[in-house]
Amino acid sequence: MERIIIAVPKGRLFGQTIEILKKADILKEEVKPESRKLTVESEDFIFLLVRAKDVPTYVEYGVADIGVAGDDVLLEKNPDVYIPTDLKIGACRIVVAGLPESKEKYSHNLTEIKVATKYPKIAENFFKEKGINASIIELYGSVELAPILGLTDYIVDIVETGTTLRENGLVVIDDIRPSSAKLIINRASYKTNNEKISEFINKLEKVL
Ligand code: PRP
Repeated sequence: MERIIIAVPKGRLFGQTIEILKKADILKEEVKPESRKLTVESEDFIFLLVRAKDVPTYVEYGVADIGVAGDDVLLEKNPDVYIPTDLKIGACRIVVAGLPESKEKYSHNLTEIKVATKYPKIAENFFKEKGINASIIELYGSVELAPILGLTDYIVDIVETGTTLRENGLVVIDDIRPSSAKLIINRASYKTNNEKISEFINKLEKVL
């Protein structure tokens, strides 16, 4: 019997993803975020522990049948996958932030802007819609440093508790959209393995 392969995001969504998989009785094994072993196997499933941004890639290419990914990652990657369920975990907001003194300038018909972000596409689309000419500098983490060091005036990032902004003296300047984690399914798997995958979705939806 072929097992369903599930891409589990490491990082921010890891704990809550493991929790709902356990609650739904899909995952019974102990899985630790610091584990160097990147696969966990059970009788019915294989769990792949992967970088959050890579989850859509594994699912779109069919290496995994199912994955969990935040709207932030999905909007950035725009994968061709089926998205049946909002898991409502990892809720956060995608925002524009900066130093408090940059707030004033932002509200005054800004036409040009420099923005550091892990989400270049989201940032580009947002500012394009606003008619603001944005040059985007892509960073892979610690984005909050950019305004502090004068690399850019603004960042586009996710805010969950607000602690990271606060601890770095930054404030929210504009709101882009909310983000939460979604279940994503490979389109071909959904057709060929519909019964098993539908059962998986039902089990998860029951515990949400
Ligand atoms: C995100 C984001 C912020 C932080 C916001 O990074 O880039 O730095 O979380 O959360 P808070 O409002 O609760 O402080 P993440 O921890 O996902 O790390 P990453 O840089 O590895 O993507």
